[in-house]
Amino acid sequence: MNNLEADLLRGLWYVACPSSEIAAGKMLGKTLMGEPVLIGRAANGSVFALRDICPHRGIPLRHGWFDGETVQCCYHGWRFDTGGTCVEIPSTHAAQTIDTSKITCGAYAAREQNGLIWIYFPENGERPEDGRQPAPPLLPDFAADAAPQLAIMLPFVCSVDHAALGLMDPTHAAFVHTSWWFKKNAKRLRPKEKPFAPSELGWAMVRHKLPPQNIAYKVLGDDVTTEIRYALPGLRIEHIQGSKHSVVGLTSITPIDSTHTEVRQMFWASMGWVRPFKPLIRHLMTVFLDQDRRVVVQQREGLKYNPKLMLINDADTQGRWWMQLKDEWVRSGAENRPFQNPVKARTLRWMS
Ligand code: FES
Ligand SMILES: [Fe+2]
Repeated sequence: MNNLEADLLRGLWYVACPSSEIAAGKMLGKTLMGEPVLIGRAANGSVFALRDICPHRGIPLRHGWFDGETVQCCYHGWRFDTGGTCVEIPSTHAAQTIDTSKITCGAYAAREQNGLIWIYFPENGERPEDGRQPAPPLLPDFAADAAPQLAIMLPFVCSVDHAALGLMDPTHAAFVHTSWWFKKNAKRLRPKEKPFAPSELGWAMVRHKLPPQNIAYKVLGDDVTTEIRYALPGLRIEHIQGSKHSVVGLTSITPIDSTHTEVRQMFWASMGWVRPFKPLIRHLMTVFLDQDRRVVVQQREGLKYNPKLMLINDADTQGRWWMQLKDEWVRSGAENRPFQNPVKARTLRWMS
């Protein structure tokens, strides 16, 4: 692991943004995975993603116009359909024939699921249907078209590796997430012991009971349990389930490039009454995520000197698994063999 830069995994689906961020007939230019990506929604509602570089003279297509069917470059007006194929070159005169169907800006597979736009970043030209991850992961309990009740995003000035290590770090909360409403008794640490098991492209903190005396969980009913899954390329899926209701929290980390990361926090809830509390919940989620964001900014001051870092037992065991999963993903791809999950079931213990 390089301190400031991460190797970016390909052959996987990444969260690009919530569906609600792109209305029909609109487009949004972003840098994802170090590549210029133009995400759009056609007039018929379907989403698409193009490589955001005009093949004529290289200007990003985001500076042009979208009429709901074709994207027009702002420089010489070439038009591209939502699959990236050139359909018009305004400068061609009557006696000239250019086969525009041979010209493309390039496209990515894009899919909407759970109210999010996912983009597939292929390994050397493979198509997603015969790619290594055939589809984005489905969230438990909620229909594939259920949108998140709330979604926030903060850009982190760190590589996806340090964003991931922070995300799965069970022992920083008492020091980083201190406020009157969470962990009032910060630094009074208690022993924790949780069983873990391998799961699809990652591992799970096995479903266990949450403290019944906690009022926040009571709204979900009795016997409230949770399972937390971590999966490549950077997803944390928490599924809290009670006798009456359930909540799914998704944290996604998507590389902007090898040194910058978009961290999103989203949740789905089966309770209909969440709406009036949204501003408060959004505020608390943002405060919480910003604490993580600020600590990686401070961490960067030290990482510049490229110190040798440590991952200790058992607090950082999940961080180790993360690095092992990434290694195995790269290695199995290079060796053209199936991915073998390196995580073995075991119980981890720590103080937090
Ligand atoms: S640069 Fe895009 S049309 Fe010329
Ligand atoms: Fe955190």
